This record gives sequence, structure tokens and C-alpha cells, in this order.
Amino acid sequence: TDLKRISVPQLMACKGQRKIASLTAYTAPFARLLDDYLDMILIGDSTAMVGYGLPNTLSITVDQMAAHAAAVVRSTQKACIIVDMPFGSYQESTQQAFANAAKVLAASGADGIKMEGGAVMADTTRFLVERGVPVLAHVGLMPQYVHTMGGFKAQGMTDEAAERILHDALAHEQAGAFGVVLEGVAEALARRITKTLKIPTIGIGASPDCDGQILVTEDILGLSGARIPKFARQFADVGAVIRGAVEQYANGVRDGSFPGLENCFGVKK
Ligand code: KIV
Ligand code: NA
Repeated sequence: TDLKRISVPQLMACKGQRKIASLTAYTAPFARLLDDYLDMILIGDSTAMVGYGLPNTLSITVDQMAAHAAAVVRSTQKACIIVDMPFGSYQESTQQAFANAAKVLAASGADGIKMEGGAVMADTTRFLVERGVPVLAHVGLMPQYVHTMGGFKAQGMTDEAAERILHDALAHEQAGAFGVVLEGVAEALARRITKTLKIPTIGIGASPDCDGQILVTEDILGLSGARIPKFARQFADVGAVIRGAVEQYANGVRDGSFPGLENCFGVKK
């Protein structure tokens, strides 16, 4: 087929025209299933928690992110593919950020990167964009700041904090970011940032008025354990389907009904 992937400029052109629907994927089977329905797929560093069972996102590496991204790119044709830069791979200097972004894009074939950080990271956004790396900024609740925040907490609840986050988003827009993820911010603030910016805002725990939405796929499918975050909605209980199938398989092995002779080789009829 000659299906063409949605490009970064095409995502930008969605602003004011149609909503951007996006989710995370880390592996081939999910990427394959998601691709027909989404404008953008993010290989989120949330895979540290969701995929690897770690307590936060801080210890995933550039090589791990690149490997997950390569699996997702290989398994999709349509969605724009964006990869999270992991903690410690871009904060040190603009040069470090470019070297690692180039490594991730070259190893995976993804379309662009996402990185966390307020106005302080805008110089890095500019450095990357001017050198051919599309950047999706991520402000508000930034999980890589878990230790400075003292946990995962909604942001922008005071006027002062709201002004700072608006300033952060504007700084990245001015630096050339193609969009901004707004995570865990007050609804009115997300609405205001969306109205103020010319580039799309992608909300997660933000506002229905954002230009697009993103969630962690496992959270909407009943695959992320007992508690689902306030900002997510469980659209299906795939976990229950998997449990049912695995139970039937285990029962079949134990009662001898699996495998059947149709599953075996060289059986004489
Ligand atoms: O890592 C992640 O999954 C994310 C979002 C869902 C925005 O950064
Ligand atoms: Na992330």
C-alpha cells in the first residue's frame, strides 16, 4: 500500500480544524492495533512504570526507548510517531540533547521527540528544531520531576503557577516546538494556553478544549492494575478478556484437551 504517515506539519495544521487523537504504544501488537485510529502515537517513557513495573520514569535508557520506538515504527504505517527522551538524556546541554535525539530517530525511524521541561528547556527546543528534530514540548505535571515535586501532583492551581506554565508553553512555541503536551494542569489554564498558542496543545488531565488528547493505552484498556488515574477513562476491560483466555488455556493443559491432534505435526489421519 502507499499509505502515507501523518507528518509533523500535518499535525500542526489540525489546530482549529480537527482534534488530534493520540495514545501511547511501546510494542508491536499495540502499535498495530492502534495505527488505524490515531493521528499520533507516543512511545512514552511511561513504559518504565507501565511496561517495566518501575516506581517512576527516571531509569529508562535511550537504548530502551530507541528499541521500543523501532518496534512501533515497524508496526505502523499511518500515525505520526513521537518518542519520549528519557531522564538524563537531554537536560545537560543542547549538544547532549541533539546527540541523543539523533540517536533515537536514527535507530527507530520515528518522526520526532518529546521532552519535559519549562522555559528553561526552550533553548534546547530551538537547538533541536533548527537542526531537523521536531520537538513536542511537555509542561505542567512533568513526571521526570517527581522528586522535586514530591510526588505526582496536579500543577497550575495558583495564579502564579498558572502564569509560569503559560510562560513555559509560550517559550517552547517561540523556540519552534510543533506542539505542547499539557499534563495534570488546572482545566481553565489548559483552555487559556490552548487559546493563546498557535501550535496544538495535547492534553492529559488538562481540558476537553485542548487541540488533542493523549492517554496511556494500558489505562484505557484495564491493563494497568487496580487503580486508574482520574484523568483516564476505562473504555474496555481487556484485562478480563486476557484472564479468561489464560484460565481456559491452563485448564486445557491440565485436563489434556490442549493441545489437540490438530495442533500436532506428523499425525496420521
Ligand atoms: O510517557 C508518557 O506516556 C507521556 C504521556 C502520556 C504524555 O509522557
Ligand atoms: Na513521558
